[in-house]
Amino acid sequence: MEVNIKISKKVFNEVYLPYLDNEDRYLVFYGGGSSGKSYFIAQRYIKKLITPRRCNLLVTRQTGDTNRKSTFPLLKQVINDWNLSKHFKINESDMRIKSLLTGNEVAFAGLDDVEKIKSITFENGELTDIWVEEATECKEADINQLKVRLRGGKSKKQMVLSFNPINIQHWIKKHFIDSKLATVCFSTYKDNKFLTDDDRKALEDLQYTDEYTYNVYGLGNWGILGKTVFDARKIQERLNHLNKPIKTGYFLYDYDGVKITNIKWQNDKNGYIQIYQVPHVPKQTKYCIGGDTAGDGSDYFTGHVLDAKTGIQVAVLKHQFDADLYTKQMYCLGKYYAYKGRENNEDALIGIEANFDSFPIRELQRLGYKNQYVREKIDEYTGKTEKRFGFKTTSITRPTILSNLIQIVREHVDTINDRDTLEELLTIIRNEKGRIEAPEGGHDDQMMGLAIAHEIRNQVVFEKEPIVTEYNFNFKIEKPPVGDYGETIEII
Ligand SMILES: Nc1ncnc2c1ncn2[C@@H]1O[C@H](COP(=O)(O)OP(=O)(O)OP(=O)(O)O)[C@@H](O)[C@H]1O
Ligand SMILES: [Mg+2]
Repeated sequence: MEVNIKISKKVFNEVYLPYLDNEDRYLVFYGGGSSGKSYFIAQRYIKKLITPRRCNLLVTRQTGDTNRKSTFPLLKQVINDWNLSKHFKINESDMRIKSLLTGNEVAFAGLDDVEKIKSITFENGELTDIWVEEATECKEADINQLKVRLRGGKSKKQMVLSFNPINIQHWIKKHFIDSKLATVCFSTYKDNKFLTDDDRKALEDLQYTDEYTYNVYGLGNWGILGKTVFDARKIQERLNHLNKPIKTGYFLYDYDGVKITNIKWQNDKNGYIQIYQVPHVPKQTKYCIGGDTAGDGSDYFTGHVLDAKTGIQVAVLKHQFDADLYTKQMYCLGKYYAYKGRENNEDALIGIEANFDSFPIRELQRLGYKNQYVREKIDEYTGKTEKRFGFKTTSITRPTILSNLIQIVREHVDTINDRDTLEELLTIIRNEKGRIEAPEGGHDDQMMGLAIAHEIRNQVVFEKEPIVTEYNFNFKIEKPPVGDYGETIEII
């Protein structure tokens, strides 16, 4: 028997259409509330279930019985809306749905019942699809178990996750989105043509009463919990208007044990350096680079390149690697952003944090890098000031450079181009002792790299532009007044 079923495009919200036949391994639907995510995912599976191709679906949520009130009725609703009841067998007590056209089946389970998940089988063939609804409720370890269940076998497999972006620090963001593991569809209520004006107004009115809820469920932005140090509104606005980096990759070079030569840029979409402006565009300028070294634990090495004149962040390096490789990439960045003088080139000024590990600073020196940030250090024994390379964060310099960064975010957030940096700044809080830091499990390496870069800008010297006067002034030379000027002033 051949059955011909036609589904009009009009029953779908347009934002989801590109994902109707998507076959990528991980597919994420996230965004604001009431955007039609769950409804679309249900529509998509009903279509898949009646298509003559194996699709055995496991629908999961954190707790099993919530399926009975959400995903199970939703799938049944789509079957009814599309007049397909006669082609499905529905078992209410076991919560099973079977397509009579293909033998494809749906089962439901909660991640709280591991044994049940393990024991689920299908009449025709193996498990091919998993939908994790409200996936932010789930533990990362449970999702990893589900990933294992999808492995092996001959058929095409896919995991779909749907959720609201409740917390910018949620594991799900790193795991599926930042890592680029998943194909991502973002939507808000504005994408859902089936909402009434009242529905829309209710969501929009949240902005007057509840900033967090409006941000997450209205705008679909990642939620920020707790009081932030940096101006969250400014950062959020900036995040909504960012451009992608113009290049992503890292540097290749030859190294003979002494010198670095033959530096080349390698494009790589998984690379750890993001370039937002290539050197000297639109015009010749000078650059400075602030670096934060990884301490103990899992922190990253970072490097932030600024146009020293405007403070615009033109490139960012962030990676976990060995200190010597970090130093060599910083070396290459400094050469790439060198000032091209008439007679000589001048390496970009590099200032690396000297607290945990002064290795990169010594290593840059050994490699013959010519322009490192110089700080003054008072010798404990002689009391004399000495000059040292690198930036030292102390109980005085740290709050100073951070309050400067707070002001930059408030007044010049447009100079920050890197999404990861902005997202990190959003998480930074002030602890009970007043110290500005990342919350537990978070990071502050982008913040420190950027703050150091801004601090060392002061040491970038631009040649004075000649002053052109248009008029001749006649100065009357007056007799200097006689008086007490205090100490003699020595002109140096
Ligand atoms: N294609 C559609 N046809 C008819 N109604 C739809 C359609 N898509 C969404 N809706 C309706 O819009 C409302 C919101 O949709 P849905 O619950 O799928 O949103 P959601 O993005 O999953 O929301 P949340 O983030 O709160 O889970 C529901 O009442 C749903 O019935
Ligand atoms: Mg939903």
